[in-house]
Amino acid sequence: MAAETVLKANNLKRYYEIKGGMFAKGGTVKALDGASFNLEAGKTLAVVGESGCGKSTLARLVTLIEKPTDGELVLGGFDIGSAHTAEEKRTLRQMVQIVFQDPYGSLNPRQKVSAILEEPLKINTSMSSAERRAEVLSMMSRVGLRPEQADRYPHMFSGGQRQRIAIARALMLRPKIVILDEPVSALDVSIQAQVLNLLTDLQEEMNLAYLFISHDLSVVRHIADDVLVMYLGQPVEHGSREEIFSNPQHPYTQALLSATPVADPSRKRERIKLVGELPSPLNPPSGCTFHPRCPLANERCKAEMPKLAPTSSAQVSCHAVAEGRN
Ligand SMILES: Nc1ncnc2c1ncn2[C@@H]1O[C@H](COP(=O)(O)OP(=O)(O)OP(=O)(O)O)[C@@H](O)[C@H]1O
Ligand SMILES: [Mg+2]
Repeated sequence: MAAETVLKANNLKRYYEIKGGMFAKGGTVKALDGASFNLEAGKTLAVVGESGCGKSTLARLVTLIEKPTDGELVLGGFDIGSAHTAEEKRTLRQMVQIVFQDPYGSLNPRQKVSAILEEPLKINTSMSSAERRAEVLSMMSRVGLRPEQADRYPHMFSGGQRQRIAIARALMLRPKIVILDEPVSALDVSIQAQVLNLLTDLQEEMNLAYLFISHDLSVVRHIADDVLVMYLGQPVEHGSREEIFSNPQHPYTQALLSATPVADPSRKRERIKLVGELPSPLNPPSGCTFHPRCPLANERCKAEMPKLAPTSSAQVSCHAVAEGRN
């Protein structure tokens, strides 16, 4: 059976208009400038890149918190642009849930865990109070929380447990897609592995599709099926985890990877340092936006924006790669 594509993004864009002020010039921030990818049920696509490259913007579009400026977004076979009735919009919203980095900020401190987990059921289903309670306890057990913890408040839990509560809440309505925006970045390394293992188990059990946003490539290596590397709002490389980690093509991907400790010390990698600051997306460089920091840049790179094109291993947006001078 062919895998079910649960998420399709086609040339997805999100621009923000910035008003000029006394000290700053106005303009357009191209926070996300043309992302295309598919995500299948049961699979994990990791989105990586430096701070400000548009990862959370992408998350806000996919979770329908914000509307795309342009492009196509299809969730569970349903084009979000054609959802008009309240019922259609609700169905779409239930299909995608999100877990944020900071479980302190995302859980209401005045609600008991049971109330936090019950809320989505109260709002969106006609379950009786007893049925809701049973669902809450069953989900708590799935994420590794004990029944007696249902009547405690978020501050009574550790960071890792709190993230388990946030994950449970995201799963209450049985979504197809879960956006994980840096879900373990705020946790101790020892706890990170536990939460990642939990996410892997839940994915298998519930056939979940994950869009896993992270700046930590050692975490991505552990959990991703495919990897999308972003730079200043644009995908620069997209391929399977194996290819991205063993045979990175784009100079930016290579630089990101060489900044990550290698798990296998027998494999030496040339260290590529990123030079210069990340440019402002309000005033991006001409041509390939990576060219001011790229060791391979030439005149063409300064003038002409490369397009994502297939190589033998991945999709890469780089003139040097296309011309074979990498
Ligand atoms: N509402 C907004 N108005 C104007 N600019 C915005 C807005 N939201 C995001 N941006 C800008 O868009 C760019 C992308 O932001 P985004 O939050 O998606 O980055 P990110 O990749 O999630 O970064 P981080 O790793 O720091 O979380 C940034 O330059 C940011 O300043
Ligand atoms: Mg972010």
